[in-house]
Amino acid sequence: MYTVRNVTEDLYWVGVNDHKTSLFENIFPIPEGVSYNSYLLLDEKTALFDTVDWQFAQEFVKNIEYTLDGRDLDYLVIHHMEPDHAGTIEEICYRYPNVKIVSSEQGFEIMNQLGYTKQDEHEQIIVKEGDTLSFGKHTNAFVEAPMVHWPEVLISLDLTDGVLFSADAFGTFGALDGKLFADELDFDRDYLDYMRKYYSNIVGKYGPFVQDVLKKAADLPIKYICSLHGPVWREDLGYIIGKYDTWSRYEPEEEGVMIAYASMYGHTEYTAQALASELCRRGMTKVILHDVSTTDVADLISDTFKYSHLVLASVTYNLGIYPKMKDFIHDLEALNVQNRTVGIIENGTWACTVGDKMEDYVNENLKLVDVLGDRVTVNTSLSVANKNDMESLAEAILESMAKNRELKAKLSK
Ligand code: FEO
Repeated sequence: MYTVRNVTEDLYWVGVNDHKTSLFENIFPIPEGVSYNSYLLLDEKTALFDTVDWQFAQEFVKNIEYTLDGRDLDYLVIHHMEPDHAGTIEEICYRYPNVKIVSSEQGFEIMNQLGYTKQDEHEQIIVKEGDTLSFGKHTNAFVEAPMVHWPEVLISLDLTDGVLFSADAFGTFGALDGKLFADELDFDRDYLDYMRKYYSNIVGKYGPFVQDVLKKAADLPIKYICSLHGPVWREDLGYIIGKYDTWSRYEPEEEGVMIAYASMYGHTEYTAQALASELCRRGMTKVILHDVSTTDVADLISDTFKYSHLVLASVTYNLGIYPKMKDFIHDLEALNVQNRTVGIIENGTWACTVGDKMEDYVNENLKLVDVLGDRVTVNTSLSVANKNDMESLAEAILESMAKNRELKAKLSK
């Protein structure tokens, strides 16, 4: 009944699906929706793990009341204080006056910063790395996970059933709409792109912190991963942990080329198309084109995390980089993108400066990025004069792919 689902015999998903918010964090378009996951444990004591966004309080409370079936709520455990999960803390405090609240020290500080006051009428239990809390048959061990993706974040492991409450880690955009487990979905077809978009834009900057958490998690007997967004994992955990490992090391997921172009009247776009054709002609068909003016920067970032090679193709604008392209490459820096090979296509009718400016920006601000020397310079529109340079750029991309493959093979020996 209601939208509640069992995760294990004693643990229930009591979260909600959001199809109302158009911009997550008021910046990322989510036409696919998103779930805010909350979990309720019925043991000798009852414990609610995290809450949901305030706008869904009514259905959230219904799910909790239905699942508690007349029992009181003993504990509210807050792993992460961002309002998409913590927005309903005060509502829970009002409805369950005996509930004890469990969080990190900084978690309680952020509750105050958000202007919450009701929690001050409740017993507060501060937990830190290595602390445990028993609910009866189930005991949770807490692990600190700073900057995944706020500083106060905790994750915890139910030592009895091996359930990892992973906060935002392993989360994804995409509402669940009745489904709960990743093995109930066609994850690769329907959710992998959403998950990469979520990871790269929300957590992408903090790769080293994610690596720290993965190292801590490697020693834990995990059987379920319960994130605050998206499906619960109970099969093939290595698959999803592997994706996080790849992304947080800034390793490309696939050999392929993303061409991001900034075009005013179509000439730079046509040049980008010509490079795509040249690559495909030579057998590299994993090529994707994005117009930076019409593609949300979150999707540009997501595909940058996916592919090994990035080509920046831009018209010169006000003697510099076209503004939408500038936004994109600034975001590459902000999200710590690294370990990629970059090609440059520039266009200008007079004073074509954009290629140098993009190359300088990339060299000065992105780590471990190799800018190919084989640049294509277009004087207003693509012409036969560009043929050799275009072929050279396509060849340089393929050569660098071959070199990367060779290096990978050597390292794996
Ligand atoms: Fe889903 Fe960092 O909140």
